[in-house]
Amino acid sequence: MPAVSFQAVSKTFDTPKGPFQALNQVHLDIEEGEFFGLLGPNGAGKTTLISILAGLARPSSGRVLVQGSDVQANFAEARRKLGVVPQELVFDPFFNVREALRIQSGYFGVKNNDAWIDELLHHLGLTDKANSNMRQLSGGMKRRVLVAQALVHKPPIIVLDEPTAGVDVELRQTLWQFIARLNKEGHTVLLTTHYLEEAEALCNRIAMLKTGQVVALAETSELLKAASGNVLQFKADVDLPPALARLARVTGRIVQLPAHDAREIEEHLSALRLAGVEVHDMEIRRPDLEDVFLQVMAGTSSSHPPPAPAAAAVEVPA
Ligand SMILES: Nc1ncnc2c1ncn2[C@@H]1O[C@H](COP(=O)(O)OP(=O)(O)O)[C@@H](O)[C@H]1O
Ligand SMILES: [Mg+2]
Repeated sequence: MPAVSFQAVSKTFDTPKGPFQALNQVHLDIEEGEFFGLLGPNGAGKTTLISILAGLARPSSGRVLVQGSDVQANFAEARRKLGVVPQELVFDPFFNVREALRIQSGYFGVKNNDAWIDELLHHLGLTDKANSNMRQLSGGMKRRVLVAQALVHKPPIIVLDEPTAGVDVELRQTLWQFIARLNKEGHTVLLTTHYLEEAEALCNRIAMLKTGQVVALAETSELLKAASGNVLQFKADVDLPPALARLARVTGRIVQLPAHDAREIEEHLSALRLAGVEVHDMEIRRPDLEDVFLQVMAGTSSSHPPPAPAAAAVEVPA
């Protein structure tokens, strides 16, 4: 039985401009013990899918099962199996951290939970904030409390919606160490993130959503293997010629240019030379998950091959 099963999930919102379809026939099974990544650009429908999983929104059609429990027909049972860290920072300003965690334990009917609460506080670097009022915490600290709240009833399935958006490197590292440990101990993890290097490092399998549809679903290693071509990476201090700028991924001084083959690498380099762009620290590497993501979103990924010419592809037995 899958840990989570999304079955033909669609969602249409009524908006002042008319109906808007945020999810379109999403089929996805997440197996027990997986560290599963759900990726997609802003507005792809990730949070909508997670809200439906958490029972916070209703699907327009389709259904979602959590270890076999329907999130609508069997809400309480399904909800107990989930620990959900929401994308938005929602908290009750009247309680301190420990009180908030005790209340959350009570909500799930877990009594005498202080030993686990102390462990959570320790692993999330919150021990010295236990008596601080939620109002007084920085954004990063509030995020940690949200993670602790999601885990307070030791749910078998942990769902994190952009948990590291806008948080410091230190929290990212402590958080991932802890979540990776829980995953090793058997917890299933479903993660959405903008940080593709995090997804590449952590997730064994990945689904990519684009405008409400699953456009890629594979083991992380398969996605990386199927990515075509190479990436020419270098540092440059001046602007690229427009033809290259259109192709490039630029982060500060670092330029990354996709190149199918050696000839294209030569062409890039000669275009740079002609434009007088001095190239430093050049390397040629295999595509990483971010390159794969860009290929999939652009519809140029080899995991979506164009239909082959019918005559050549089909072998007809005599
Ligand atoms: N309550 C709502 N009413 C109308 N449109 C919504 C609502 N919630 C989300 N949307 C729209 O649905 C799309 C998907 O949103 P969301 O699931 O938040 O995407 P993601 O989390 O992938 O960035 C977006 O275009 C968003 O504007
Ligand atoms: Mg979102």
